[in-house]
Amino acid sequence: MQLQDNIFLVTGGASGLGEATATALVDAGARVVLADLASSDGAATAARLGGAAAFVAIDITDESSFDAALDAAESHGPLRGVVHCAGRGGDRLRILDKEGHPGDLDSFRNVLEINLIGTYNVLRHVAARMARNEPIDGERGAVVLTASVAAFDGQIGQTSYTASKAAVHGMTLVAARDLASFGIRVNTIAPGLFDTPMLARLRTDIREGLSAGVPFPKRLGRPEDYAGMALTLLQNSYANGETIRLDGAIRMAPR
Ligand SMILES: NC(=O)c1ccc[n+]([C@@H]2O[C@H](COP(=O)([O-])OP(=O)(O)OC[C@H]3O[C@@H](n4cnc5c(N)ncnc54)[C@H](O)[C@@H]3O)[C@@H](O)[C@H]2O)c1
Repeated sequence: MQLQDNIFLVTGGASGLGEATATALVDAGARVVLADLASSDGAATAARLGGAAAFVAIDITDESSFDAALDAAESHGPLRGVVHCAGRGGDRLRILDKEGHPGDLDSFRNVLEINLIGTYNVLRHVAARMARNEPIDGERGAVVLTASVAAFDGQIGQTSYTASKAAVHGMTLVAARDLASFGIRVNTIAPGLFDTPMLARLRTDIREGLSAGVPFPKRLGRPEDYAGMALTLLQNSYANGETIRLDGAIRMAPR
């Protein structure tokens, strides 16, 4: 999918990986709609990016907010691609606490609601829009979802987060097969440890320890690293149904 002059939606575009992706898309000549919570910094981020960017308030778990957001996104033309970055971290809850009591079910549900149900909700709504597009070189649209290396090597206390991200990975090939007849591609990026506000809540010494554990390059991922991969997956018309680890070769230890 060509980036220049086409319209792309970036969920979670107010922060971290989404903000970097929106910035890279604008730099590549695309028009971008940042979709994020009303309480986010999305409006300020869009203003910083200039006339090629706009903000729409959306809660990805909410069924009703999508039509208005997608109408706004399509006010300048058809939606050609989506990078879905909105999500949350897990709560580091073990299945049993120190006294042997069962872990909190509400926390588990909330992580699944945002990371898994939210992803499916985004996917179904944007696919419905892109399926109406006139094909360009046979292609109507491209979607990039976001999992995590926790989908493959989840750590102790990460049951909910790992379950949600493993499900996003699991959906990727099915979604690509499901939407193939519409000319819509679906790929997923599974980031390792990225320097975003999500990781900033950790203590500096913990962040330094995490960087040291990355084989090469020995640093946290930069949001621009993610953005570069997202743009490649949008552009490369033969990339489909794949989850790509983007992690400096890290494999997470049990804890
Ligand atoms: N940072 C990392 O190291 C890392 C690693 C692996 C995977 N990820 C995944 O990457 C994605 C982006 O993470 P990030 O580090 O940029 O986080 P971030 O916290 O900087 O950004 C997440 C954005 O999602 C938005 N959001 C949260 N819930 C939402 C909802 N219900 N509706 C709409 N928007 C919502 C937030 O407002 C925020 O702007 C997440 O799915 C995260 O799980 C991040």
